[in-house]
Amino acid sequence: MNLILNKRQRRLRSSDSIRTLVRETSLKANDLIQPIFVIEGIDVCEPIVSMPGINRMSIDRIITYVKYLHDTGIIAVAIFPNIDHSLKDESAEYALNKDNLVYRCIKKIKNCLPEMIVIADVALDPFLIHGHDGLVSKDGSEVLNDATVHALVKQSLLLAEAGADVLAPSDMMDGRVAEIRKNLEQEGFHDCIIASYAAKFASNFYGPFRDAIDSKFHINKTKLKDKKTYQIDYANKKESILACKMSVSEGADVLIIKPAITSLDIISEVSKNVLNPIWAYQVSGEYSMIKISSLNGVCDFYSTMYESLFCIKRSGANSIITYSAGEMAKYINNL
Ligand code: PBG
Repeated sequence: MNLILNKRQRRLRSSDSIRTLVRETSLKANDLIQPIFVIEGIDVCEPIVSMPGINRMSIDRIITYVKYLHDTGIIAVAIFPNIDHSLKDESAEYALNKDNLVYRCIKKIKNCLPEMIVIADVALDPFLIHGHDGLVSKDGSEVLNDATVHALVKQSLLLAEAGADVLAPSDMMDGRVAEIRKNLEQEGFHDCIIASYAAKFASNFYGPFRDAIDSKFHINKTKLKDKKTYQIDYANKKESILACKMSVSEGADVLIIKPAITSLDIISEVSKNVLNPIWAYQVSGEYSMIKISSLNGVCDFYSTMYESLFCIKRSGANSIITYSAGEMAKYINNL
């Protein structure tokens, strides 16, 4: 016996074509931003064990890779350095060396492929012996806010000078966006975009990233065993929305929220409350969960990753920083 239903939702799900016509969200290659790990050397391509498919690369290899990404439709990359241990110290001196690995990498990319948007991380963790995002007090008990901000301002100016299109402070110190913005304006870098890691949670999902830049082990050697005194408690929604509003009032152009999959409610809420664009960062642990599951036959990498990226966009993100960008761009182009 047929039911007489006033409304049948399945009508709009009945074929590929009709589903396409009523689809509310889209995902394109140019929605995706590829993070890249740079390491010193020539022709180096070093696999990161906890992130299958992702490598640390020397600048020459990155240039070839970035050209390939560009051909697949990727229009932005985010650079993170793996700094040789001998160059790490307690004051992040190498971060302010004009010829360091990051500045050389940015210059080379902008030189070879000026249209590629280069996003530079503003943070000291790759350069500090303990792997914290800021300078640590002498007794090792505190990450110093204001002293760190002074160093971040200097780092920002050098990144802007090297040609970075976007500065992304990921340190979570108070007041850094305002200070960076003020100094960029004073020094004439009016067009330099600030994408603030506005809501960055103290997350376990950053583990593989810390392997990639070799900053993990060293945190355990200080009195502060985690980043909870500056990154946001993942239990807190209002605090994270306030953090986003503060970044905007300090002069941020774009808000970065991370991790992504565990912050869909935050992305959704911020996109309703704040008018600035939002970039969600699907972090290393999120990538590796899907990648390693797929390598073990638990799921199909492409369709599962595609779904996760779609859902991140559905929550309100304009673009997504994801380690899968290059791979997924190829997949999306072939759909
Ligand atoms: C630190 C920084 C981190 C990430 C980006 N910048 C890790 C941390 O806070 O320790 C994590 C990104 C990822 O996990 O992919 N400045």
